[in-house]
Amino acid sequence: MYRTHNCGELRISDVGKTVTLSGWVQKTRDKGFMMWIDLRDRYGITQLIFSEEQTDKNLFEKARGLGREFVIQVTGSVIERASKNDKIPTGGVEIEVSELNILNESKLPPFTIENETDGGEELRMKYRYLDLRRTPVQSNIIFRSKVAIETRKYLSEHGFIEVETPNLIKSTPEGARDFIVPSRMNPGQFYALPQSPQTFKQILMVSGLDKYFQIVKCFRDEDLRADRQPEFTQIDCEMSFVEQEDILQTFEGLTRYLFKAARGIDLPAFPRMTYDEAMSLYGSDKPDTRFGMQFVELNDLGKGKGFGVFDNAELVVGICVDGIAAQYSNKDIKKLTEWIQRPQIGAKGLVYVKINEDGSIKSSVGKFFNEEDLRAWADKFNAKPGDMLFVLSGETDKTRKQLNELRLEMGRRLGLMDPNEFKPLWVLDFPLLEWDEESERFHAMHHPFTSPKKQDIPRMLNGDFETMKSLRADAYDLVINGAEIGGGSIRIHDRALQEKNFKLLGFTQEEAEEQFGFLMGAFEYGAPPHGGIAFGFDRLCAIMSGQQSIRDFIAFPKNNQGRDMMIDAPARIAPEQLDELNLDLKILEEVE
Ligand code: AMO
Repeated sequence: MYRTHNCGELRISDVGKTVTLSGWVQKTRDKGFMMWIDLRDRYGITQLIFSEEQTDKNLFEKARGLGREFVIQVTGSVIERASKNDKIPTGGVEIEVSELNILNESKLPPFTIENETDGGEELRMKYRYLDLRRTPVQSNIIFRSKVAIETRKYLSEHGFIEVETPNLIKSTPEGARDFIVPSRMNPGQFYALPQSPQTFKQILMVSGLDKYFQIVKCFRDEDLRADRQPEFTQIDCEMSFVEQEDILQTFEGLTRYLFKAARGIDLPAFPRMTYDEAMSLYGSDKPDTRFGMQFVELNDLGKGKGFGVFDNAELVVGICVDGIAAQYSNKDIKKLTEWIQRPQIGAKGLVYVKINEDGSIKSSVGKFFNEEDLRAWADKFNAKPGDMLFVLSGETDKTRKQLNELRLEMGRRLGLMDPNEFKPLWVLDFPLLEWDEESERFHAMHHPFTSPKKQDIPRMLNGDFETMKSLRADAYDLVINGAEIGGGSIRIHDRALQEKNFKLLGFTQEEAEEQFGFLMGAFEYGAPPHGGIAFGFDRLCAIMSGQQSIRDFIAFPKNNQGRDMMIDAPARIAPEQLDELNLDLKILEEVE
């Protein structure tokens, strides 16, 4: 038997027992006549003690020869520690070792395998199996497993059936590029990996499965960030005979249940906001509602006073930051202005108004606005003495985006984004279509299968170009703390409407038929009204844990170049394999 107990379970009540433990040597402290070893496994750390007085001489020397990450088995008796460590659950006891068995040796690891490590990210990704030994990384993976189990429990209790859908499919447009797999048996033809199981889950509704879910890998070839991976996991769901309200209720229920079951947290209310409101109040379709600083528009008070920048702008809009007037010197304001003028944000300038504690007002636009004007601004913001207003102007969409960045930056600086406070929000009524200036065509804001709102269908069928921009969809996002956790919609279930939507999106009839004929065909055989949602599972786990990076919640993540550093993929393949796949070798030769 390798062990009688694990390294996380012995307590004072076990003193006197003879036990056998197995694990990794995390750390050795050698005082010459005494030696302590931290023995680690998934469950915790237990301290081993060897002393010149008590321990057999050979055993003492053998222990001294142990290196970091050696795998050992020890037998000994549990004793009470002289100096206790109340930071770990086993900190009251230690093992006086009488037998030591080296199960496997280890090379010196390339970084320290402790809670705090000295390893850089790339190195830790290369040796992911070592990084995964570290408690904080391991607990993220264990947390993920728990959330997956609880998800299955909740959804199956609510009548959902878990169905697997294929990975070798045809393109499903979710707005990214596809990963492509060549088919050996069909020369010159390719599968695409699913960006999501969207069309399959809709087909399952046509088949009468009524409530479907799947915890499923999705693949998207897009630029990577802390919250995006090329392969990631969704909790993907679809329901029949539902309206938007049914979906919101069901998945608010799931979210509440998961926070309670996995973290013991009761979430506050899930307020709802339309896309238009979110854009005008926060300049973002995923506002972080842990703090206020809502936008206030100033076109009425800012224009017509001879300040050309405002007079020529489509939108004048600002935020009020509580209590910072005294802290922001001219130098700080200059720095902040430079920050917002960086090309990544691209604002032209920053107007400020300080409402000083003594009631006086100071502003960068004092030349154009007298004290009375500025007081009217302050009133519109409900500003108090000590507050400061920041105002931007320009073209509406751009200005809102820039002010969103400034709002988030002020939130960060003022510590208003507590990672352990959770503010969910439903954002509703997204536009159906989005005009893309560059390609001069409409894109589906969610995806092409999303239904317009019932009342907008006549306008969709008969409207002109401008009308199309104003159509609203039965599409919704779940946002928590400024992160898009999930998104979904009520779907089109009627062939004619789906055809019209493809046409608006610039598909010819033949293209639509070739790519999605199977779905439109299915709609002709009694498709029920249906809708659904998908949660980003990696993101959900990260947010629930109060963390930003989803990589920490994926056992084997990819780096920013989409590489798996451990197995070194993607990689070249042998010429014979290329041949077999009927792939042209020329491209490879050109790369070389
Ligand atoms: P959507 O494209 O909004 O909807 O995706 C759903 C959720 O998946 C997460 N997500 C990602 N997570 C990590 N890395 C990525 N690259 C990535 N891309 C998306 C987000 C997002 O909210 N088929 C529809 C759902 C539906 O309509 O039912 C879909 O995939 O958290």
